[in-house]
Amino acid sequence: MKHPVLIIASLLILAQSVSAAGIPEPRRMELLNLLKHDCGSCHGLSLKGGLGPPLTPTNLKGKPVDYLSATILYGRPGTPMPPWRPFLTDREAVWLAERIKEGVR
Ligand code: HEC
Repeated sequence: MKHPVLIIASLLILAQSVSAAGIPEPRRMELLNLLKHDCGSCHGLSLKGGLGPPLTPTNLKGKPVDYLSATILYGRPGTPMPPWRPFLTDREAVWLAERIKEGVR
């Protein structure tokens, strides 16, 4: 039988990897996929712009994460930018805003 201390230690490690921004790894993969394909359909496959503006660190410089995540969640009424509220949690939108500010390959 495994030593109880080892079990507790592995649970702590597990809890930590999940709480990194609270988004589990498989969901992060889904979100990056969404970014590339769904967001990419307007913002360009490499997010360098298309119908929507580039989602690149240069273009997003000085734009706060909260402002970008609100745009992602609620869209921009009167423009083609749709709201993603039905598909994303607040935290996921913040995570995506951080990714695009940081630069996604
Ligand atoms: C149907 C086309 C379309 C899709 C799909 C789309 N966007 Fe947009 N997005 C736009 C347009 C157009 C704008 C510019 C709106 C404006 O004129 O202010 C925009 C603006 C933005 C902005 C603000 C950029 C800035 O410089 O202020 C962010 C951030 C953004 N989109 C993220 C996303 C993300 C993330 C997704 C996918 C989850 C996504 N968009 C999907 C069309 C789209």
